[in-house]
Amino acid sequence: MTEFDVVVIGAGAAGLFAAMRAGQRGRRVLLLDHADEAGKKILISGGGRCNFTNLGVVPERFLSANPHFARSALARYTQRDFIALVTKHRIAFHEKTLGQLFCDGSARQVVDMLLAECEAAGVDLRLRHRVTDITRGDRFTIATDHGAVTAASLVLATGGLSIPKMGATGFAHDVARRFGLPVVAPRPGLVPLTFDDAALDLMRPLAGVALPIVARCGRAAFPEAMLFTHRGLSGPSVLQISSYWRDGEAITLDLLPDRDATGLLLAAKRARPKAEARTVLADLLPQRLAQALAAAHLPPRIMGEIGDADLKRLGAMLKAWRIEPAGTEGYAKAEVTLGGVDTAALSSKTMAAKDIPGLFVIGEAVDVTGWLGGYNFQWAWSSGWAAGEAA
Ligand code: FDA
Repeated sequence: MTEFDVVVIGAGAAGLFAAMRAGQRGRRVLLLDHADEAGKKILISGGGRCNFTNLGVVPERFLSANPHFARSALARYTQRDFIALVTKHRIAFHEKTLGQLFCDGSARQVVDMLLAECEAAGVDLRLRHRVTDITRGDRFTIATDHGAVTAASLVLATGGLSIPKMGATGFAHDVARRFGLPVVAPRPGLVPLTFDDAALDLMRPLAGVALPIVARCGRAAFPEAMLFTHRGLSGPSVLQISSYWRDGEAITLDLLPDRDATGLLLAAKRARPKAEARTVLADLLPQRLAQALAAAHLPPRIMGEIGDADLKRLGAMLKAWRIEPAGTEGYAKAEVTLGGVDTAALSSKTMAAKDIPGLFVIGEAVDVTGWLGGYNFQWAWSSGWAAGEAA
C-alpha cells in the first residue's frame, strides 16, 4: 500500500502516540522510522524503568519561547489519561519522588503497550526506512529507500538532537525549515555542566560526592541532589538548572538548604573553639567536601582562632556559591534538546503548521521542553494525542 491518510515519521514516544490516536479514529496510518526498533529512547529511559509521567504536570514546568503553548495539549491529554492507559494494560508502577511515576518492571512494558495499541488501531509500522525526500502537492509524497508513499497529513515526530549515537537527527528541524517554519536555535538541556580548570581543581577530587542543594539560575530554583563529576557538576538539581542556564551566566548553589550557615559556624566557634574547621564542616556537609572547602576558604587554624569575618564569608559562600559554568557535556549526554520548531508557527490545539495544511510537528522536535521527571514523555503523549486527533 502506498496511499495513506497520515504518515508519521519517527516511531518514538510522540510518533507512536500520534499514530495510535489517528488509527483509532479510523485513519489509514503509516509510521516510519529509520531505526531497527521502535521507542528506543523509551527503552533506556528512567534507568530502564521509564519515568513515563509526573503527577505534578502543569504548563509552568515546561520551557518554551511561548510559555503558554503547551497548555492546550497538556489539558486535553493529561497525566491522568496516561495513567489510565497504563493501568488498563496492567502495568504496575510506583511514585519514586516528586510525583515521578516509574514502571515497577521495565520500560519495555510501555513500548509493548504502545505497539499493541498501534496494532489494534491498524497502524502500519515500517522500521529501517530512510526518508530521502518529501514534497508537497495536493498530498505529501514521502520518498524512502523502500519506495514512495503519499498522504494527506504528515506528522514530524523525529525528536531532538540528544544522544546522536542512538540515531537522533535534526530531521524534523530541517524539514520544517524547508517548509518555511522557523526553528528556535536548539541547545542541549537536562545536561551535566562543565567548568574551567580553576573550578575543576576543587571539583575533580570530589567526583562521586553527592549532597542535597538548591541550584539557582535567574528565577529558576531546584532543591534536589547535586553530584560532583570529573568534568564538573551533575545530579538532578544541576540537570534541571542546566535547561535555564545560558552561556556566560553564573549559577548559584545553596549547599545548606534551609539552614543558617553563618549562624551555625559562629555558634560552633563558641561551642567548640578547639575543634578543627573541617571537623565542624563535616557535621554539615559530606566529609570530602568539608575538607576541600575548609582548605580553600579558611586559614588552617582551630575554630576559636578563626576570625568571625572569615566564618561569615564562608557562611555566605555556602548559601550562595556563585560559579560560572564553562559549558555543558553536550548532546552526547543531554537528556533533551531545548529549542526546536517555533511554536509561533503551530496551532497549540492540533500541533498543525498554521501555513502548511496537513503538516504537524510533535514531541521533542517542537520548542517545548519539560523538567526532569517524566515531563518530557507527558509532552510526547499530549502533543502526539493532539496531532492524532486532527491529522
Ligand atoms: P524520540 O527521540 O523518542 O523519537 C524519535 C524517533 O524518530 C526515534 O525513534 C528515531 O529513531 C526516529 N528518527 C530520528 N530521525 C529520523 C529520521 N531522519 N528518519 C526516520 N526516523 C527518525 N523523559 C521522561 O519524561 N522520562 C524519562 O525517564 C526520560 N529518560 C530519558 C533518558 C535518556 C537517557 C534520554 C536521552 C532521554 C530521556 N527522556 C526522558 C526524554 C525523552 O526520552 C524524550 O523527551 C522523548 O523520547 C521525546 O519523544 P519523541 O517521540 O519526540 O522523540
